Order: sequence, then structure tokens, then C-alpha cells
Amino acid sequence: MSQFLRACRREPVEHTPIWVMRQAGRYQPQYRELRKKLSFIEMVSQPEIAAQVTLSPIEQFGMDGAILFADILLILEPLGVGFEFTKNDGPRIAEPIRSAAAIDAIAERIDAQESLGYVMETIKLVRRELSEETALIGFAGAPFTLASYMIEGGGSKDYLQAKKLMFSDKGAWDVLMTKVTDATIDYLRAQVSAGVQALQVFDSWVGALSPDDYRTYIQPHMRRLFTGVKADLEADIPMIHFGTGGPMLYPLMREAGGDVIGIDWRVDLRDTWEALGDVGIMGNLDPGSLLTPPDTLRQRAQQVLDKAAGRNGHIFNLGHGIFPTADPDQVKVLVDYVHEASAR
Ligand code: CP3
Repeated sequence: MSQFLRACRREPVEHTPIWVMRQAGRYQPQYRELRKKLSFIEMVSQPEIAAQVTLSPIEQFGMDGAILFADILLILEPLGVGFEFTKNDGPRIAEPIRSAAAIDAIAERIDAQESLGYVMETIKLVRRELSEETALIGFAGAPFTLASYMIEGGGSKDYLQAKKLMFSDKGAWDVLMTKVTDATIDYLRAQVSAGVQALQVFDSWVGALSPDDYRTYIQPHMRRLFTGVKADLEADIPMIHFGTGGPMLYPLMREAGGDVIGIDWRVDLRDTWEALGDVGIMGNLDPGSLLTPPDTLRQRAQQVLDKAAGRNGHIFNLGHGIFPTADPDQVKVLVDYVHEASAR
């Protein structure tokens, strides 16, 4: 079994496994070359291309996990919510969901095997190429993060429209979250059938909420998501529950589910792990560390390793995604250092 999967199960490892959120992307010259010819959506929807992009950071840097090249927003299409990736401002929802009628019009159920079949095809192609030493990670957006995209119509700093709906009409909010949760369960289970070996749920925007609001409006759906994905699966598939910007929420996220909690750099890894107890931890190097000279980068990586103190269940990662201006040579420095310095 790969070091990555061992760490997810909190078993002893030969070295701390590492991968990097957004490890396939614009910081890689070969990615930018492909992007000159194809749009992002064309890249994800052509399985041969998506598989090649998924594998490229593994071939170049030797991470312990490969993350499927796709996007959290792909599920909006089978849900019936039209969107596009614009050139400069990221994703845009054509008609943001702002009324009960718009929520009613969203699909009750999706058939991910069919409507997102190209993702399943990519998974099969990647699995054929990956050695047993590298785990393939599937993923989805968490219902809150997806719902807020649908409501805001794109990225947001304050999530005011999403909060307006959530706080003023809990009935409509729950209908929306239930639909998104059901679709996400179906999508993640389809990814498992196609061959992913671990799953990450990205609740990237959840840090906008208070603990009480998380408990009331989000946590019941997240619990159902984790139990729904795992129900009667043949093999136990580890799930990583990632959230950012809301340190007070980690205990509540842990209660909701996940074998590994993914934390950002704003929290102390050791204190957070102690507070969360028996669960794996993924993180949590500040992505800005990649901009420092190699020796400083190594020192900063060592500080993260020191906080984890060789405990079983640590997966090394950045605290959030790598940025497009990162230097690929620094990614190599980081991966090599974590492997060498953590060798048991
Ligand atoms: O390497 C990987 O991590 C695998 C693929 C992946 C992408 N998006 C590819 C992508 C993953 C796991 C995601 C997740 C994702 N997508 C999240 C959650 C992760 C996080 O950072 O918190 C979110 C919020 C999105 C939504 C999204 N997709 C945005 C906001 C954008 C535009 C902003 C940006 O970074 O360009 C995208 C587009 C996107 N998704 C790109 C990539 C490589 C850039 C596309 C391009 O222009 O080439």
C-alpha cells in the first residue's frame, strides 16, 4: 500500500507523504503550453489530456498523491446550473440561484457515471499509468462552497447573497443543500467505482461562517455527505475534509466527518492536532514559503514536520493551493526535502 494511503489510515510510514493542492496547473510551463491551444474546459473534458495533466506533476516532482485534474464546479452542469470559466475573473454562473423557484429547478438527482463520464474515463486512464506507490485522489466541492458559488454567481469576498438566503429562508437553503449533497454523494461514489483511492472534499469558503451557523446550516449536510459516500463501499476509502479561513470550525468539521482534516497555515499544526484528537492531519505550509530561497523553504518545511513530530497520520501539503507564479524548481526542492527529512 502507498505511503499516502498508510498515512490516511494512521499507520506507520517510511516517509511523510506529500502532495500539493492545485499541483497540476499554471505554474507549470507544460500546462501553460497546453492552455495556449485548449480552454480549461476542453482540457478537463478530454480524458487523454486530463490524464496527462494529472500525471505531469508526479512525473516531474514525485509527489505521493496524484489529484484528478478536474474542477469542483463540473457538477453544476448535470445539476442544471449553467456556468463558464471566463478569461480573467474565474468561474461565472450564468443565472445565479436567488429564489425558491430557481432552487426548485435544480435537478433532484444526477447520474454522474453518465453526465460526468469523461471524469470517470480520466480516472481509469490515470490508474493504468500510476504505480502502486502513488495514490489517486478524487475530489468534490463541499455543498456550502458549491451553493455559495451558485448563489453569488462567482467568487465572493463576503458571501452576502448566500448568507441572505441561508439566514432568511432555512427551508429553501436546506432544499438547495440537500440537492447538492445528494449529487455530490453520487459523484464521489462514481469516482470510487472508476478507481480513485482517496477522496478530498473542498470546503474552501466555509471560513466565512461562525461556529453556530456552521452547526445549524452546514454540519447536518456534511455528516450525511460523509456517511452517504462511505455507505456499503467494498473497500474503505479515506476521505480528507479540507477547509480554510475558519480555525474555530475545525472541531465541528471533524465531528461532521473525514479520516483526515486538511488545515490551512493560519493554525498551529500541533495544537490543532491535539485539539482534534484521533484523526489524520493534512497541511499546512504557507504557500508563500515557495517564494523564499531554497534553504528558507527547507527550514519552513522542517517547522511543519517538527509540529507533526513524526506522528502517524500526517500528510504534508500547503495550507491552500499553489499559486500560478510559483517556481517549479521550488516544488522539487520541497518534495525532495520532505521525503529526505522525514525518512524513518
Ligand atoms: O491540481 C489540482 O489540484 C487538480 C485540479 C483542481 C482544479 N480546481 C483545477 C483548476 C482542483 C482540485 C480544483 C478545485 C477548485 N476549483 C476549488 C477548491 C480548491 C481551492 O483552491 O480551495 C475551487 C474554489 C475551484 C473553482 C475554480 N476553478 C476557480 C475559482 C478557478 C479560477 C481561479 C483560478 O485559479 O484560475 C478555477 C479554474 C481552475 N481549476 C484552474 C485549474 C488548473 C485554472 C484554469 C486555467 O485558467 O488554466
